Amino acid sequence: MLKLPGLIDPHVHLREPGATHKEDYDSGTSAALAGGITMVLAMPNTKPPIFDQVTLDLVLASAKKKAHCDYAQFIGAGPENAEMAARLAPYAAGLKMYLDSTFGELRLDDMSLWMPHFEKFPRDLPIVLHSESRSMAAGILFAALYDRPVHIAHISLKEEVLLIRAAKERGIKVTCEVCPHHLFLSKDDIPGISHGHPGRGEVRPRLAEKEDVEALWSNLDVIDCFATDHAPHTLEEKDSNTPPPGFPGVETILPLLLTAVHEERLTIDQIIEKMHTNPKRIFNLPEQPETWVEVDETASYQVKTSQMYSRCGWTPFEGWQVCGQVKRVVLRGQVAFENGKLLVEPGYGKNIREEQNIE
Ligand code: NCD
Ligand code: ZN
Repeated sequence: MLKLPGLIDPHVHLREPGATHKEDYDSGTSAALAGGITMVLAMPNTKPPIFDQVTLDLVLASAKKKAHCDYAQFIGAGPENAEMAARLAPYAAGLKMYLDSTFGELRLDDMSLWMPHFEKFPRDLPIVLHSESRSMAAGILFAALYDRPVHIAHISLKEEVLLIRAAKERGIKVTCEVCPHHLFLSKDDIPGISHGHPGRGEVRPRLAEKEDVEALWSNLDVIDCFATDHAPHTLEEKDSNTPPPGFPGVETILPLLLTAVHEERLTIDQIIEKMHTNPKRIFNLPEQPETWVEVDETASYQVKTSQMYSRCGWTPFEGWQVCGQVKRVVLRGQVAFENGKLLVEPGYGKNIREEQNIE
């Protein structure tokens, strides 16, 4: 049995408020624990989006009642909330800015709308950017101009990882994450995921070319975090005429990465660095005492939706043979998950920012 520290997923969508038929703090944090994740940072592109005191209070009230694992909630950057977002920063995971189109209403096109956020948001937390290709380059320019940290969400392209390397070499405060689906899938896998329903292959950023996937693997030293971008939508929605983009991911990330370890493409130390040490430092997250994850590195099994806690009811990795299974998760001294069973009640999970502010 291999013992890992509590793993942190800095990018999940829990759909609360407004779309709890897809997921909520209860189902999403249960799924996280089943995946060996003990802390999640939740995105703000909900309905309504989380962008002020009222909406933050709304989501945190649900979270407090429902969460099984520890968590913090992102604030979304809007055209007029820079002051408010900066004021709420101590209670938030960080600030999320959407610079490219995706699911939800939070996109900021005009660069002059980015400026007040870069000026005002506290520098001890990163601004997380959904930014692809050239808008990512613009985001890195902002990090340089304002000399403050930015964290690039879900990079997927060779040009992105190479530009981040160059920016880091020049001392610009940029960090980044990559998602399992951009490491384990390319465009060529879309037909296999779709089974005739093209919406199942839709995700933002889109699945990329094989060459991009290879570039992510060969530049792993530039990649600070593994994050799922757990973006649950129901199978019915994915198969509709207007399929929303997004893949679920919290229950498959660790088995996929452990399979890569088994195949000698990755090391356990890299998993610990990118799912514990680095996210903790980048997002200024507290230690979770008496918290660890036990995995059986030799257990080989098939990924099956029917064994998952997520409410979305599908996974792009259905039927994949993986090697490495989460057996037991201990969270703050309590066995939270063991042999497929969830053992902590809704409400056991703590808002880590609230705890930090009390201290
Ligand atoms: C995300 C979602 O569904 O909320 N979808 C996605 O394809 N990644 C939105 C996002 O992270 O941009
Ligand atoms: Zn996302």
